[in-house]
Amino acid sequence: MDLGLKGRKALVLGASKGIGLGIASALAAEGVDLLLAARSAEAVEANAQKLASEHGVGVKAKAVDLADPASVAALIGWARDEGEVAILVNNGGGPPPSGALGVPPERWTSHFQSMVASLIAVTDAMVPAMRSNGFGRVLTVASSGVVQPIPTLAVSNTLRASIVAYMKTLAGEVAADGVTVNVLLPGRINTDRLRNLDKARAEKSGESIEDIAKASQAEIPAARYGTVEEFGAVAAFLSGVPAAYVTGSIIRIDGGLIRAVGG
Ligand SMILES: NC(=O)c1ccc[n+]([C@@H]2O[C@H](COP(=O)([O-])OP(=O)(O)OC[C@H]3O[C@@H](n4cnc5c(N)ncnc54)[C@H](OP(=O)(O)O)[C@@H]3O)[C@@H](O)[C@H]2O)c1
Repeated sequence: MDLGLKGRKALVLGASKGIGLGIASALAAEGVDLLLAARSAEAVEANAQKLASEHGVGVKAKAVDLADPASVAALIGWARDEGEVAILVNNGGGPPPSGALGVPPERWTSHFQSMVASLIAVTDAMVPAMRSNGFGRVLTVASSGVVQPIPTLAVSNTLRASIVAYMKTLAGEVAADGVTVNVLLPGRINTDRLRNLDKARAEKSGESIEDIAKASQAEIPAARYGTVEEFGAVAAFLSGVPAAYVTGSIIRIDGGLIRAVGG
């Protein structure tokens, strides 16, 4: 299938590794020029060089800290200077494990900044040009926890619910202008983040990481963790021209992990 993406430009946040890099790679394979950003300048620069040489696309990189509004403002200025962004991938880090009680107020605030306010700021800056061009794609990586809250990730469950509400509202505002807005829910994709969460659970329970991972995979109907390539493929399809009628949707990429029908 021709996704009609050749020569378009995407801004991918959280693109130093994991899901963000998986999406960037899938888009590069479709001929999309890329702007990559994450805190690690070295990692995004190395990814830029690799993707450019592997796929013959233009790739530039910049360091950004989504927890820092000044850094986000600089990113927005840079992305605008680089030309029109047709595809925005909102992605970044997740919070450390915690329950709902006893989280210090400042932790709620700082994660709200990095996981919600900064993503809204970047979206707000990128969408007007998409509307004028009559084509745009906004993809936001959230978590299966927005459908079925994960008991050990209260901050993630709570703040991601808010970004989902924002994106759903936005989808209705811009759909008639050719801009689609969708949220992707990873459920146990094999990345550093997942491995660190398994490690934390192992340390808490005294079991080995291997046993924790085995038990975790046994809860998934697909009986395994997903790959960033599988995640990237879904994101690339949703970025494409043929996916023009998919908007305001929450798409699970979770091997069937969430058993509920709705959401
Ligand atoms: N993997 C899963 O199964 C799963 C499940 C549910 C939800 N999620 C969520 O999906 C997102 C991506 O997951 P992942 O597994 O790919 O995580 P990951 O391996 O930890 O990668 C996170 C990415 O975000 C960047 N990042 C982190 N903090 C940042 C900040 N303050 N400013 C800018 N960039 C930042 C990281 O790069 P730098 O460190 O260089 O900044 C990295 O590129 C996360 O929010 C995660 O919580 C993942």
